[in-house]
Amino acid sequence: MKDCGAKLLFITCVVHLSSSDTHSLQYLYTAVTPGLTHFPEFVALGLLDGEQFMSYRSSNRFLIINDWIKKIKSEKYWQSETQDMQGNQHTFNKTLKTVMKEFNHSEGDHTLQRMFGCECDDDDVTTRGYDQYGYDGEDFISLNLTTGTWTAVKPQAVTIKHTWESKGSNKHWKNFLERNCIHQLKKYTSYSRDTLDRKVVPEVSVFQKHLSSPEVVCHATGFFPKPLNITWQKDGEDVHEDVELRETLPNQDGSFQKRIILKVPAEELQKHTYTCVVQHSSLEKELVREVPKGPNKLEL
Ligand SMILES: *[C@@H]1O[C@H](CO)[C@@H](O)[C@H](O)[C@H]1NC(C)=O
Ligand SMILES: *[C@@H]1O[C@H](CO)[C@@H](O)[C@H](O)[C@H]1NC(C)=O
Ligand SMILES: *[C@@H]1O[C@H](CO)[C@@H](O)[C@H](O)[C@H]1NC(C)=O
Ligand SMILES: *[C@@H]1O[C@H](CO)[C@@H](O)[C@H](O)[C@H]1NC(C)=O
Repeated sequence: MKDCGAKLLFITCVVHLSSSDTHSLQYLYTAVTPGLTHFPEFVALGLLDGEQFMSYRSSNRFLIINDWIKKIKSEKYWQSETQDMQGNQHTFNKTLKTVMKEFNHSEGDHTLQRMFGCECDDDDVTTRGYDQYGYDGEDFISLNLTTGTWTAVKPQAVTIKHTWESKGSNKHWKNFLERNCIHQLKKYTSYSRDTLDRKVVPEVSVFQKHLSSPEVVCHATGFFPKPLNITWQKDGEDVHEDVELRETLPNQDGSFQKRIILKVPAEELQKHTYTCVVQHSSLEKELVREVPKGPNKLEL
């Protein structure tokens, strides 16, 4: 378990987690009081080695899962998972209300986050688990797997700790993290490996958004895995100025897309040869696309 507080919970932990000799399965829940604009009331994410494989939002009440995990169980199973998620949402919402009461917060915008999951080293023996809650960006309560009890990080968590322990929730989650979670993690890892080991070549196109604009876009899409190099060259030399490299974005089907934009006057495009060069593990050699001479020949 990496040392990540609740504050930047999602950002810091997701970035840290995927190291090659450790596999991790992680779930992130967030609930916000109604009224925060443009944010669903409850969001649950599932991540395997830091990559999202499922998400659930209270706004559409539908579990979205990626390609490899669909293969593990039937459609029916995922429907019942969706129902479970609705139950989780309900419980989590109730917890948020209880926590607000403990803080005497009757209104306003408040957030409850929960991060739980497990990790397993490549030796298949060393495992770790964690379950922690954060309220309004600060650690609130966490499960100590050594003692099998909840630790009230904030004094306002003491009552909740006692309630949960009287219901046996500490034992339930300890058991989940040490057994079911590890079992799930191993299963998911083996299924995802087939999908993750695949290589899919990028489709690359070069175009101008508007004929009048001095911006040429080189767009690569549909590739897997994620790492891809994309650069502009002018007469065979790398161009670094007036170049905007965009972040790699996920496609719906689990593949990725990336683009690089070059700002260049139309007359320069006539005088020189501009090429977009793409490197990817699926390609034996780099893929080169030339910007056609003459503005009207550019693809749209
Ligand atoms: C959570 O509880 C609040 C307060 O009762 C309610 O207004 C809201 O609709 C609930 N949200 C969900 C997602 O159940
Ligand atoms: C909440 O209000 C009660 C009653 O007014 C008070 O005794 C308690 O100390 C308050 N708790 C907090 C965390 O402010
Ligand atoms: C869990 O409790 C044990 C015994 O009190 C303590 O030594 C350990 O530091 C605790 N672990 C965490 C993660 O807080
Ligand atoms: C991208 O470029 C770097 C540096 O030249 C290189 O190490 C890496 O292998 C390249 N990646 C791909 C996917 O070709």
